[in-house]
Amino acid sequence: MDHIKQQIEALREELNKHNHDYYVLSSPTISDFEFDKKLKELSELETLHPEYFDANSPTQRVGSDINKSFRQVKHRYPMLSLGNTYTEAEVTDFYNRVQKGLNDEFEIVCELKYDGTSISLTYVNGELTQAITRGDGVQGDDVTANVRTIRSIPLRLHGNDYPAEFEIRGEILMPWSVFEDLNKERAEQEEALFANPRNAGSGTLKQQDPKIVASRKLDSYLYYMLGENLPTDGHYENLMKAKEWGFKISDATKKCKTLDEIFAYVHYWDIERKNLPVATDGIVLKVNSLTQQRNLGYTSKFPRWAIAFKFQAEKAVTTLESVSYQVGRTGAVTPVANLKAVKLSGTTVKRASLYNEDYINLLDLHINDQVYVEKGGEIIPKITGVDTTKRGIFDEKVEFTKNCPECGTPLVKDDGEAIYYCPNDISCPPQIKGRIEHFLTRKAMNIAGGSETVEHLYNARLIHNIADLYTLKWQDVSRLERWAEKSARNLVDSIHASVSVPYARVLYALGIRYVGETVAKKLALAFPNIDALMAASAEELVQVDEIGDRIAQSIVRYFSEISNVEVVNKLREFGIQFELSEDIVSQRTEKLKGLSIVISGTFEKHSRDEYKAMIEQNGGKNSGSISSKTNYILGGDNMGPAKLEKAESLGVPVISEEVFLEMIK
Ligand code: IVH
Repeated sequence: MDHIKQQIEALREELNKHNHDYYVLSSPTISDFEFDKKLKELSELETLHPEYFDANSPTQRVGSDINKSFRQVKHRYPMLSLGNTYTEAEVTDFYNRVQKGLNDEFEIVCELKYDGTSISLTYVNGELTQAITRGDGVQGDDVTANVRTIRSIPLRLHGNDYPAEFEIRGEILMPWSVFEDLNKERAEQEEALFANPRNAGSGTLKQQDPKIVASRKLDSYLYYMLGENLPTDGHYENLMKAKEWGFKISDATKKCKTLDEIFAYVHYWDIERKNLPVATDGIVLKVNSLTQQRNLGYTSKFPRWAIAFKFQAEKAVTTLESVSYQVGRTGAVTPVANLKAVKLSGTTVKRASLYNEDYINLLDLHINDQVYVEKGGEIIPKITGVDTTKRGIFDEKVEFTKNCPECGTPLVKDDGEAIYYCPNDISCPPQIKGRIEHFLTRKAMNIAGGSETVEHLYNARLIHNIADLYTLKWQDVSRLERWAEKSARNLVDSIHASVSVPYARVLYALGIRYVGETVAKKLALAFPNIDALMAASAEELVQVDEIGDRIAQSIVRYFSEISNVEVVNKLREFGIQFELSEDIVSQRTEKLKGLSIVISGTFEKHSRDEYKAMIEQNGGKNSGSISSKTNYILGGDNMGPAKLEKAESLGVPVISEEVFLEMIK
């Protein structure tokens, strides 16, 4: 069988090289298609030959199945942060202190200060063995499984001149483009938006499911090597070695000698950083020689051999002219500040986001206020404060609107929520148009059209709801201005093609508030046809894993609206899929019918989510807490002592994963 092992290793090596070409060097040499083919080939060989399993195989990048809260690990060398400076005078002071402290020649390495999540990676014999977050600097979370999914981090190093064991530290980053896509998706689901790529990246790194991490396309830059036998005495030279071993080292890293060179670097990057794909918030200056670093040593908090220079947050002062309100597809109303136009980092700003009523009250905003506008890591500028000394006595306080700006209906707000809604989902135009737009999107019905298409058709009174799409004739569409016959036909064809979109996606496409893609999938499995779902009570809905009160209420409310039921019935007549397809239904069993099962602990054979799905697939119910109604506890490792005690006192049997798998075999 040795040749199989050789074949596996050769494929792993080849795929690692392609990953490096693509993610570190940005110059791929094979097509994505060929890459996927090779990856599949490797994956198949590995499945046939589990004896050659390797956690660092490129197939493991997609995310393994382990699912547990993170282990806390103590850092071998504490993870310190840097002293911050904000002025060039402070940078000069640093330079002079170093000169005085060393009384010898020295070089300063200038680097970009990446604004992400710091990470410490350990490599033993060229293999990634551990990835730990900064935590409190003394100990952090073991996020190795998640970090393995980041393509620019080498799992196995190139060459053979790396130390047997060393650490390398750097930053995990979410690129701007990924961040913007992610927020767009979250806005569609009306989920809370991430304020900046740093929060989005660190949130991603703390995800329990490495598959989600893999899907979010994180990137990395490494900037600090630690260990006993580093290749050279130069920080810069060590980084260049690290680059040869496969790490992503910023091309902006530069050795300087004089203050003039340092300032030239600072000025250049203060502008040029705006063209980078990831966020940066300053420059880091480091003494190059490791011996000199040791001689300078540390203060109680920071190294004396390095310092950060932070870029100015870009700020401007302008006048708040008015506040307007936007209505989204689910009726959510968001306030927007209209500002007197002002230049901010190269663009003219006229609007700023105000988030919700609480934020307006926090700022105590008045019309005509002089407001501070900032473009931090965020995409949309925000108002960070008010110069109240400039406020006139007659300036009116901003009161959140009581009525929908589009249809005049009084707004409502749920208990504990920050957002107001327009409840008139039947005839409020942006809600109607928004719902149709959502219905067309790729992840919903995948119909070839966007907001402009909907605007045209709605204004021409050709459509009023999603069901009307299916009565459209290309001849009617082509009569509209700017619609050629070909595009009209394409639109109608793609509407007709959408009748084969599976049930779960149709549920998502309906645009029920809080029913995103994942929830829609769970609903489709639990209620295999729309009649069952329409008949479900809130109590029945919350029995489904991950469906809470808020979602359940929203679903019940949706189907209690006659106009929604009418739309569903019309869609049904047009042949839209409103039941789970046969092949999925046929995998369902009733082996666990009537059984309520609690999952607790961590497992080896499958993830918790997979076990939850198996329980549902076999007719059982997932329950979150142990009670006298619980039939079994599916217990794994590290099941909490309180749970064990409760199970014992109530006489609920705890079964292992092996026994469970036997039950559903
Ligand atoms: S060096 C002892 N270099 O900024 C020196 N840090 O306040 C350790 N950072 O926690 C850090 N870019 O997360 C270094 N080129 C860079 C950096 C950098 C970003 C972050 C890092 C650190 C913080 C320092």
